[in-house]
Amino acid sequence: MKVVLIMAETVDGVISRSSNEFVDWTGSEDKKIFMRLTKEAGVLIMGSKTYDTIGKPLPGRKNIILTRNKKRISDNPNLVFCDDSPEKILADLETEGYTMVALAGGAQVNSLFAAHNLIDELIITIAPRIFGTGLRLFTDSLDLKLQLLSTKILEENFLMIHYKVLK
Ligand SMILES: NC(=O)c1ccc[n+]([C@@H]2O[C@H](COP(=O)([O-])OP(=O)(O)OC[C@H]3O[C@@H](n4cnc5c(N)ncnc54)[C@H](OP(=O)(O)O)[C@@H]3O)[C@@H](O)[C@H]2O)c1
Repeated sequence: MKVVLIMAETVDGVISRSSNEFVDWTGSEDKKIFMRLTKEAGVLIMGSKTYDTIGKPLPGRKNIILTRNKKRISDNPNLVFCDDSPEKILADLETEGYTMVALAGGAQVNSLFAAHNLIDELIITIAPRIFGTGLRLFTDSLDLKLQLLSTKILEENFLMIHYKVLK
């Protein structure tokens, strides 16, 4: 199972100015690429705070939302609230036949998977913005080593970088 972190950040490494900010500054090409990759994967994982900024599941894909709130339930098979370990989530997805999953933030959930050394690739869009303060890609101290796979200039001023995590 390949876990690909797909995120956008500012030039100063900020993913949002606060946990409840809906991120609308990543550019239209980034959105299209996110849509294509997550549809190809068929499944994405995000934290409840990120989900709440969107407010609904992304259509045509399985949405796994990490939360410890047992009151959050869903009767939609493509919307799953859970507090399983990252290993169990990935093992279950593999059993269901998925081979790739998009890890779609936010910082807490990215850190959870990074702490378990479960991130295989990162696709990061650098947006032409600087916020100075805010949430970063990860919340905790880490030391991941990366290999650059590709770079791509998106629409004017946006840069996408694709890294593999060396394990
Ligand atoms: N720039 C980008 O590309 C991008 C992408 C995604 C998100 N974002 C932004 O990131 C911000 C949210 O990030 P965030 O770090 O504050 O929150 P988050 O990672 O989206 O969600 C955190 C929540 O996930 C749940 N959680 C965390 N660890 C868990 C575990 N081990 N087991 C079960 N549930 C767990 C908890 O939910 P409960 O509190 O419900 O228990 C926790 O409050 C938003 O502003 C969003 O817009 C930006």
